[in-house]
Amino acid sequence: MKNHRYSIVGDIIASSEIFIKNGVVIIEDNKIYEVGEFDKLKKEYDLGTIYEETNNIVMPGFVNTHSHAVQTAFRGAADDLDLLPWLHNVILPGEISLNKKQIEASCRIGYAEMLLSGITSTNDMLTSKHSLSGIRAAVDSGIRGHIGKMLMDRNVPEEMIEDKDDILKECTNYATKFPNGNRVQFAYTPRFIPACSNELMRESAIDAYEKQLIFHTHSSENMDEMKWVKELTGKSNIEALNEFGCMGQNTILAHAIWTDERETKIIKETETNISHNPSSNMKLASGIAPISDYCDEKINVGIATDGSPASGGHDFFLEMKLASFLQKIKNKNPKSLPAKDIFYMATKGGAKSLNYENVGELKKGNLADIIVLNTDNPNAKPIYDPYSFVVYSAQTRDVDKVIVNGEIQVDNGSLINSIKDYIVIAEKYKDEFIFNK
Ligand code: GUN
Repeated sequence: MKNHRYSIVGDIIASSEIFIKNGVVIIEDNKIYEVGEFDKLKKEYDLGTIYEETNNIVMPGFVNTHSHAVQTAFRGAADDLDLLPWLHNVILPGEISLNKKQIEASCRIGYAEMLLSGITSTNDMLTSKHSLSGIRAAVDSGIRGHIGKMLMDRNVPEEMIEDKDDILKECTNYATKFPNGNRVQFAYTPRFIPACSNELMRESAIDAYEKQLIFHTHSSENMDEMKWVKELTGKSNIEALNEFGCMGQNTILAHAIWTDERETKIIKETETNISHNPSSNMKLASGIAPISDYCDEKINVGIATDGSPASGGHDFFLEMKLASFLQKIKNKNPKSLPAKDIFYMATKGGAKSLNYENVGELKKGNLADIIVLNTDNPNAKPIYDPYSFVVYSAQTRDVDKVIVNGEIQVDNGSLINSIKDYIVIAEKYKDEFIFNK
């Protein structure tokens, strides 16, 4: 049988180091068959169907290292609050109230928003109930990702508290159905230390590492959360996570804003990954994470959109820009986190966090997770430096094509899979949801 081959022509940003003017990416099935100069490769290979528009930038899709697609239902319902009241008064009652259909709708809208913003992989936390509806929504949306049931066995409303052994049994079931290597894999996602017993933290980390799945939790986001963790464990967040065996290469810590030198040393020594969520950290007034310090220590950092009620939505371009600008302000140094460093975090650094060896760069043999940016809009005129354009000037509306696993999911700036039915469900939910603000 002949393989399915097609090619995209444009200026190629293959990685934070490699730019090819007038290039081509040849895609065969779900992989990149070859990348190089168009004039050279067109003589050497059958290019299959050619997608060629003038003024394209072709680059790796963005890797979103922390999201809550299920919280899309609460966009705009939890504004101007600190983390803990935000969580306890709106987000947790909201998560409790969602039924299977509403979870599916909320997740489909969230994943759709991510795809439209050029995100080809995400690292997503669901809620405690109906995880299969959320995982299936990810599968059906076309996105790649690690999707986790939210694990909680203490300090949340009674309806959300589950028995540790039941939780781990349910997780094993999902891990078997969605193992490492699937486009959508299961992830172990304990919410944060206050909502999880020491045993749940410890045992979920053991299971995640045994099954080579991602372990993903919130840590050191907010001063009140830090105080609560100290009361519960007698330790700082990172020290407690380390003692529970939760730190390591398969671990992603969302936020990590409030860490001291000792904790940074633990993150570095354990090769734990950090997910930076700039707009969420700003909207919830959580703080400015010491990202330049992490980079100086060679700690791997990815960028993320968090959930819609925390950040406003899944706009990856905004997150990249804020990630850079915040460090420039924090360090009072315009050289902090330049565009190329942010590009790396948004692609290869994110892929490293998610344990993907073959994502995040356009190179032969990698998975075909690719986006095409249109540079016809006024915000793209002129372009001196393609990295500067992507990080500081590009917007979601410039995203023309999004390809995941070789399949075109967004074409001409529109989704291939309609989400109309899900929008109807989400609108209806909005009228019914009562929260305690
Ligand atoms: N900490 C515990 N739960 C959450 C959550 O849902 N979102 C954020 N941003 N922080 C959390």
